[in-house]
Amino acid sequence: MAQHRVVPQPDVVEPSDAPPFTITAQTAIVLPADGGEAARVGEWLAALLRPSTAFPLPVTPGDGPAPAGAIVLRLGGPASLGDEGYELRVAADSVLLRAPRAAGLFRGLQTLRQLLPPGVEAEQGAMRMAAAWTAPAGRVVDRPRFAWRGGMLDVSRHFFTVKEVKQYVDLLALYKMNTMHLHLSDDQGWRIQIDSRPRLAQVGGRTQVGGGEGGYYTKQDYAEIVRYAAERFITVVPEIDMPGHTNAAIAAYPEIGCSRPMPAQTVPVPEPGLYTGIQVGWSTLCHDKEATYRFVDDVVRELAAMTPGPYLHIGGDEVAALTRDQYATFVERVQDIVVRHGKIPIGWEEIGKGKLRPQTIAQQWQSDTAMLAVRQGNKLVLSPASKAYVDMKYTPATELGLRWAGFVELRTAYDWDPAALFPGVTEQSVLGVEAPLWTESVSTISGAQYLLLPRLPALAEVGWTAQGKRDWEGFRARIAGQATRWRMLGLNYYPSPQVAW
Ligand code: ACM
Repeated sequence: MAQHRVVPQPDVVEPSDAPPFTITAQTAIVLPADGGEAARVGEWLAALLRPSTAFPLPVTPGDGPAPAGAIVLRLGGPASLGDEGYELRVAADSVLLRAPRAAGLFRGLQTLRQLLPPGVEAEQGAMRMAAAWTAPAGRVVDRPRFAWRGGMLDVSRHFFTVKEVKQYVDLLALYKMNTMHLHLSDDQGWRIQIDSRPRLAQVGGRTQVGGGEGGYYTKQDYAEIVRYAAERFITVVPEIDMPGHTNAAIAAYPEIGCSRPMPAQTVPVPEPGLYTGIQVGWSTLCHDKEATYRFVDDVVRELAAMTPGPYLHIGGDEVAALTRDQYATFVERVQDIVVRHGKIPIGWEEIGKGKLRPQTIAQQWQSDTAMLAVRQGNKLVLSPASKAYVDMKYTPATELGLRWAGFVELRTAYDWDPAALFPGVTEQSVLGVEAPLWTESVSTISGAQYLLLPRLPALAEVGWTAQGKRDWEGFRARIAGQATRWRMLGLNYYPSPQVAW
């Protein structure tokens, strides 16, 4: 068991006393003969291992008996493994990975990856590894507890490049997460090209918190993020936050704005009406103007067309400038627009103040309104700020991050059960968990990594592993083994004193 230090903890691990599997210059990767998505998964493994091992690792299709020494990927196994489950058998002479779906093969490869030495993460020439490329023998049977296991990146408060977003996606993939939520608009910046409303990106994208130059994703940029995530079986969920948190959109199209006065700011802005501070709650779209709903329709239509995933996030949080009825009417109309364009709406928990359609998802973050959605029969994604907000400081000494929801040390992020978070919320009303990274205080990807690691893997395990199969002491021991991997990957992390690294 000591050798099987995998995060998140798999459902069943049966270690063996047999000798380990060793990758050599002769090792081949064998795929199902019919290729398809499984072929891509095999290529992903080869692309991971070739630079570090310098072995050729040919990828070949074939359903017959596996050649000696091969890593064999097969579609199949019990249907009970579901969309993302897998079975991994590691023996001295072969590795056999089986899964009903290609996504399960990809998740299973993350387990194999973590069973191999951290040196597999090194780029060619970056590090000469003397150790053999071995994985301990044994059997792993695994499947996730929850369907939604996500990370959010706020690219509005500070803009992050496509390359940086891909680095975040890579972290999600390593820990078997399946959802990348992009917070694409807020008071400080609009980050996505919308052809029918060109000023959104051109004007609304021109700055960020503190007055930097900001930026936005073109439709090609966004397609590249979606493609990269899909290769890792990760769904992109785009968020346009409405009706509050909308100052950047209102700066571009003032006729849709009914905000309270903008809080004072000290930094000069490149266009009138832009905002670079971090106060919340003062901006709002006009709930009673048809121009607002034409605007929402334009944005939702284009965003839905460029998003292959089923969800579109409408925000809905922290609206102080509307009455409850005004807010509810807005949410209900926007919900209908999203459905009309073929997507499932998701919004922050406040949307429960409106009448929700059965499929609409509420994203819990502070708990006082989440029950409004649960009582309507809607499912929750849980992001309790005091545990899952990875932009909170670890301790008072943490340089980056905010502190309004408290300090979130590693154990706080890890040690909770989604089905017992608050009364009335059971396993059945929980779709999954998500770790939001708000970026008021974070302007670099290295800073983002410091806040994400080690908390993102902790949240990944909360979402993946059955409650009875995980515990803090076990996690503490396993997460320590990840740090060498992060260093090989060039990732920044917080060396929490709660772990013997
Ligand atoms: C939020 O933190 N305002 C969702």
